[in-house]
Amino acid sequence: MTATPRTDALMRRGAEFLGSRHAILCGAMSWVSERNLVSAISNAGGFGVIACGAMTPALLDAEIAATRALTEKPFGVNLITMHPDLFALIATCATHKVSHVVLAGGIPPKGSVEALKEAGAKVICFAPTLALGKKLLRSGADALVIEGMEAGGHIGPVSTSVLAQEILPELAGDNLVFVAGGIGRGEAIAGYLEMGACGVQLGTRFACASESIAHPNFKKAFFRASARDAVASVQVDPRLPVIPVRALRNKGTEAFTAKQLEVARALDEEGIAMGEAQLQIEHYWAGALRRAVIDGDVEGGSLMAGQSVGMVNEEEPVTDIISALLSQSEAALVRR
Ligand SMILES: Cc1cc2nc3c(=O)[nH]c(=O)nc-3n(C[C@H](O)[C@H](O)[C@H](O)COP(=O)(O)O)c2cc1C
Repeated sequence: MTATPRTDALMRRGAEFLGSRHAILCGAMSWVSERNLVSAISNAGGFGVIACGAMTPALLDAEIAATRALTEKPFGVNLITMHPDLFALIATCATHKVSHVVLAGGIPPKGSVEALKEAGAKVICFAPTLALGKKLLRSGADALVIEGMEAGGHIGPVSTSVLAQEILPELAGDNLVFVAGGIGRGEAIAGYLEMGACGVQLGTRFACASESIAHPNFKKAFFRASARDAVASVQVDPRLPVIPVRALRNKGTEAFTAKQLEVARALDEEGIAMGEAQLQIEHYWAGALRRAVIDGDVEGGSLMAGQSVGMVNEEEPVTDIISALLSQSEAALVRR
């Protein structure tokens, strides 16, 4: 008997798929989800995921090797589909026999899912709608993550609660669906598990764990913030393919507006392609997030955070966070 039998039973399919004790993924967070946090999550019975972000294949290679040195437990790698070297990054994952790869940031390009599966990896994709979820499963995705707009980082337009109601009853019976976005406590986990989710993914709740290398200033900003401080970015030019980003409001939020105007001007005056415009915007975010997470520039950098940030109040070891989530979930299920 485990301490949380009801939660474990509802997470069984997800945990078997991940090869972890609990079906709790720590969603990849660029600059934050590196060897230390990822190995700590997996060692604590969750499932850590390396954020490849804008890394080169050589950097990813080193990060996977360093993570392996810190944990014998399985972990995944998150690749951004618009990365110009996506197929080289897939080859790096294949060399290391990475067991699970999460494809994020858009519909996977032709051949990417196939290449990963050929290498023996399980492929997890983000499903922004029910129709796309079905399509991704038909194209070979082994599991889906549905992520609502409460989440930190790049977001879609629909809330987690609505996505869960639209997608879980249709797909979660026969497929593996993880729910993400806005989860700060175990009671919410219990709710999504009861609706059919096989597990959950959290980012914001883990970003300030003791094992996270995020700068103390970044962590302090999280501890001070409440849900309403985590705002979605505003699109200033409808032509720009800007994916909204949820982050704590600061001077960097205004700088992003200026960046968009600069890119829009380059579209008009220099005739840069739309793909290049999107890449410039994404590079901006990667740089701004690095400034906040690594350098501690919490004024000018990007403090990507979800609305659950109000429930992040202190630095805690990953094991404590996972135990708290599990016992809150279990208590909720016992009360039913
Ligand atoms: C600081 C930060 C950086 C993130 N970077 C990425 C990323 O590089 N790739 C990705 O797929 N998701 C990224 N995310 C999203 C997380 O993986 C996760 O899905 C999300 O945080 C879950 O919602 P929550 O923040 O409400 O828990 C990021 C989130 C945060 C807070």
